Amino acid sequence: MQFTHNPPDASALMSSARSFGNYDLSSAIADLLDNSIKARSTHIDILCVRRHGEAEVRILDNGHGMSAAELHQAMRPASTNPTTERAPDDLGRFGWGMKSASLSQCRRLTVVSHNGEIHTGAVWDLDDLADWKMGVLEPDEIKAVMNPRLKLESGTEIIWTRCDRLSEDGAIEGRGFNDMVAHAKSQLAMTFHRYLTGEEGIRKLSICFNGDNLKAADPFLRNHEATQSLPREVLQLRGYPIDVQAFVLPHYSKLTSADHERLGGEEGFVRNQGFYIYRQHRLIMHGTWFRLVRHGELSQLVRIAVNIPNSLDEVWKITLDKADAQLPSGLRARLKDIVDGLRGKSGKVFQSRGARIRPGSGTTPVWSKYVRNGEIRYYINREHPLLADLLEAKDEQLASAVGAAIGIIEESFPVLSIGDDVHAKGAVINQGAIDREAFVERLDAVLPSLLHRADGKLATLTTLLKTTEPWASHGLVVKEHLKSKGWWQDA
Ligand SMILES: Nc1ncnc2c1ncn2[C@@H]1O[C@H](COP(=O)(O)OP(=O)(O)OP(=O)(O)O)[C@@H](O)[C@H]1O
Ligand SMILES: [Mg+2]
Repeated sequence: MQFTHNPPDASALMSSARSFGNYDLSSAIADLLDNSIKARSTHIDILCVRRHGEAEVRILDNGHGMSAAELHQAMRPASTNPTTERAPDDLGRFGWGMKSASLSQCRRLTVVSHNGEIHTGAVWDLDDLADWKMGVLEPDEIKAVMNPRLKLESGTEIIWTRCDRLSEDGAIEGRGFNDMVAHAKSQLAMTFHRYLTGEEGIRKLSICFNGDNLKAADPFLRNHEATQSLPREVLQLRGYPIDVQAFVLPHYSKLTSADHERLGGEEGFVRNQGFYIYRQHRLIMHGTWFRLVRHGELSQLVRIAVNIPNSLDEVWKITLDKADAQLPSGLRARLKDIVDGLRGKSGKVFQSRGARIRPGSGTTPVWSKYVRNGEIRYYINREHPLLADLLEAKDEQLASAVGAAIGIIEESFPVLSIGDDVHAKGAVINQGAIDREAFVERLDAVLPSLLHRADGKLATLTTLLKTTEPWASHGLVVKEHLKSKGWWQDA
């Protein structure tokens, strides 16, 4: 056999590199932030602006920077072999991130760096790549493009120009651009929340994005008193520790609407339940159960943090864009046990919300319980303002039909099957309103009737809601909603 030199075509290979991984703006920036973290940065400035009808992105860190030789090596596609062992705090793996993430969004990548001694700069331009020709910037060219901060401090600045992918489908026009930036901010605030907080053992990082300091977005809301944190468990895989901790988020009635919206995200709580996989404390994926349970089978409030070290990248099959992984078979059974142990737990958050009857609690209940001669009977409270209004309706036929309907619901109350579910099957009964939207929708539907009951006075309506179930038990949600309508009036 003879051998012949057969390298890839530069332009074709780099154009395909644009599609390595499934980057969007936030995951592409995240790949660069990984490099900045590895370079020991403590502050990163991200600028994403519109210039002459095109987006331009700049990411400036204050890490240790690179020498000319290091930058030359770093610019090379596949700059490191993925099988090379990495330092424990290295978030890299493939030797591609800086190039593939950048070129997934732009056609021209400029990198300038200051290592405390020299300034250096290099360029890859997708439209001018013949025979792997990389641009090396002259000192005056470096000065012209770099952020003045790099004159004195060490650090690296990544500049994306001709951002065709960010300008696609007219995204650069009007609201599209602002929405894209807002989405990237909220994603990064979650992806790096442990770094933004500076959790134990992690160097604290601040990130400023278009002038806003990102605030850590903790998907488990650990600071909230109603969040249930289960004990941490450390599982072993091939001699490396995998840190696992489950959380049950607070019931929606205990969340402010801002927290509720943030935690539910764009896809809602059910889509966001599941495992949150961190690699070196950086979130790489979330909202999956790895087919250990079906989505929606467990409470939507369950989330499990799993932190993996970079030494297990191959076992987890981490993808080039650091946005996907596969559960190693050696962990399936143990994680399944942890998930199964959670079945009852999250149910309880709902259960305590159902309609517990607390005689003399000072609120008007929906249901009442009477005990006579050792026999118990449950009644629907006809004094409840909602029902009272219907029962006193001018239309007598309607009023008596409502009365009859209430009687029928009471008589067919499924006592036996409830008893059977709880005692024989040990089931958790989840009868409360499941989500905030449904609860608020129903509140809106009955507000006219309640306002009528309150003689049209907002202060009386406010008191009525504070003292009548189910609204009294959902005080925070009711107050926020009425305030947003300008209907809340403290007496
Ligand atoms: N901001 C930076 N500061 C200092 N060095 C950097 C910076 N960005 C990149 N580098 C250097 O460039 C190299 C290549 O980065 P690149 O992101 O392309 O690959 P990687 O981080 O090694 O692996 P991965 O593809 O998994 O990200 C890094 O290993 C690092 O040495
Ligand atoms: Mg990298």
